[in-house]
Amino acid sequence: MKAINYSEYGGPEVLKVVDVEEPHAGAGQVRIAVRAAGVNPADWKRMTGYLRDIFPVEFPAGVGFEASGIVDEVGEGVTGVAVGAAVFGLGVDTLAEYAVLSSWAVKPDDMPFEVAGGLAVVSETALRSLDQVGVSAGQTLLVSGAAGGVGSAVIQFARHRGITVIGTASTPKHDYLRGLGAIPTTYGPGLAERVRELTPRGVDAALDIAGSGIIPELIDMVGDPSRVLSISDFSAPEHGVRFSTSPREHPERALAEGARLYSEGALRLHVEKTFPLAQSGEAQALSMDGHVTGKIVICVS
Ligand SMILES: NC(=O)c1ccc[n+]([C@@H]2O[C@H](COP(=O)([O-])OP(=O)(O)OC[C@H]3O[C@@H](n4cnc5c(N)ncnc54)[C@H](OP(=O)(O)O)[C@@H]3O)[C@@H](O)[C@H]2O)c1
Repeated sequence: MKAINYSEYGGPEVLKVVDVEEPHAGAGQVRIAVRAAGVNPADWKRMTGYLRDIFPVEFPAGVGFEASGIVDEVGEGVTGVAVGAAVFGLGVDTLAEYAVLSSWAVKPDDMPFEVAGGLAVVSETALRSLDQVGVSAGQTLLVSGAAGGVGSAVIQFARHRGITVIGTASTPKHDYLRGLGAIPTTYGPGLAERVRELTPRGVDAALDIAGSGIIPELIDMVGDPSRVLSISDFSAPEHGVRFSTSPREHPERALAEGARLYSEGALRLHVEKTFPLAQSGEAQALSMDGHVTGKIVICVS
């Protein structure tokens, strides 16, 4: 099968379309014929070697952590899904014609494959972050980095839970944030003052999604490091702030919740741009620029 692969650390130019052996579903897994696969910053953080001390890459390496498609193999012990089902979920090496998923949910009929291909990572990350930061209905959450994939999902899941969200993004994206239900403000100097004007009684919790080095500022605004959580700044523990990574047990529950909210019209995923598999390097370059609105998705078939 065709798959995206790289054999050395580097920029998007190291990505090649190659012929590799097809993967097969092991116990508790399904294999899908991939229709679409989301691009995530973790793809290029691994590719460039940024994460080499934490998650070293074994070469040759595949790319991608999520996809949508049609189940064509069901592993031992898997129940509730059959060959032919349309699903989306989390796996590895998903920028390929076939991929193995370790957790999945049934794709709603009205959800396009390209949306489903980019929904798994953001749903799982957003719901995990909201649960772990411990914010609840009636409270106010500050989201630093609200216009990307994870931020967009956080806003919508939080609004659905009755949480008020203040989200940071550059000014041209403020209408986008409003459309998702957040109160927008710009990031950069003076953030605390702008947030105070928007919510004089203060914010109850903050999520650092952009990882832009503002954890101390977020702690000042919230008043308690245990109510601040980062998913992208490895220095978080030095500030007494939790760093959240890796899916929790039963990530499929978050995927099912994403599918359910989508069907109810409470969750949307803006796909900024799609690319064919052969242009995965261009897709990663766009992600590396750091200003994606919603998600970038690779359409495989
Ligand atoms: N730990 C985990 O479990 C986990 C899971 C998923 C993702 N992550 C990490 O979380 C981060 C976000 O992921 P993502 O998929 O949402 O990324 P993304 O979609 O690429 O995020 C792009 C967004 O970041 C915004 N941004 C850039 N600089 C900013 C700043 N200084 N302040 C506020 N917003 C800023 C941009 O808005 P503007 O264009 O307006 O600047 C853009 O809309 C990445 O570092 C990723 O690796 C961690």
